[in-house]
Amino acid sequence: MAFKKKQLAKILSELKRFKNPKVELEQYVTPGDVAAELLWNAYLRGDIIEKTVGDLGTGTGVLAIGAMLLGAKKVYALDCDVDALRVAERNAVNLEVNNIVFVQKDVSFFDQKVDTVVMNPPFGCQNKNADRPFLEKACEKADVVYSVHLAQDEVRGFIKRFVEKLGFKVEVFETVSFEIPRQFFFHEKRLERVVVDLYRFEKKVF
Ligand SMILES: C[S@@+](CC[C@H](N)C(=O)[O-])C[C@H]1O[C@@H](n2cnc3c(N)ncnc32)[C@H](O)[C@@H]1O
Repeated sequence: MAFKKKQLAKILSELKRFKNPKVELEQYVTPGDVAAELLWNAYLRGDIIEKTVGDLGTGTGVLAIGAMLLGAKKVYALDCDVDALRVAERNAVNLEVNNIVFVQKDVSFFDQKVDTVVMNPPFGCQNKNADRPFLEKACEKADVVYSVHLAQDEVRGFIKRFVEKLGFKVEVFETVSFEIPRQFFFHEKRLERVVVDLYRFEKKVF
């Protein structure tokens, strides 16, 4: 392995960010340490190397680029926002990361079968239920999914029920702090902190 987890976190934390983040799309960048934690777990479990990966709601490409750096064969990086995809493409070019296919579509129209999905979907704080099409699509297109959701009892209960109904086992493998630098009008502090769960969903075999 060419990288250590800390090095990966540093590289991902230095990527270019959203120019004008759109509140209605919940455009928060996953911090480098959180992205590295999620990807490193996926890597250790054999879900990245030589795998075809989907990054749903790729934003500035943090998870897509991280997956390629850890040895994925190919990544489909989808976002509905062309401005975000431009930044993601620039980030990939700057790091000379190839084999990322950028797809501009609403997540509901993603039509590519992949081995693994990695994603940090909208939490549904701005548009209620915005996370649902991401969960549905991820479980339709992959047998293994890594995802990020708020670490709250209500959210945990919802994720477990919703994803189990789709035929998947649900595991929270880490709970971590997620820093959001002030970027929207309702942010009062220079740095907001939320706590998130990192999930792995795996399709049940009957
Ligand atoms: C919380 S951000 C995460 C960005 C990036 N994956 C990361 O980890 O830094 C959610 C992303 O989902 C995208 N998004 C929101 N709703 C979407 C939809 N319905 N279809 C496709 N992308 C969407 C947003 O544009 C945004 O880039």
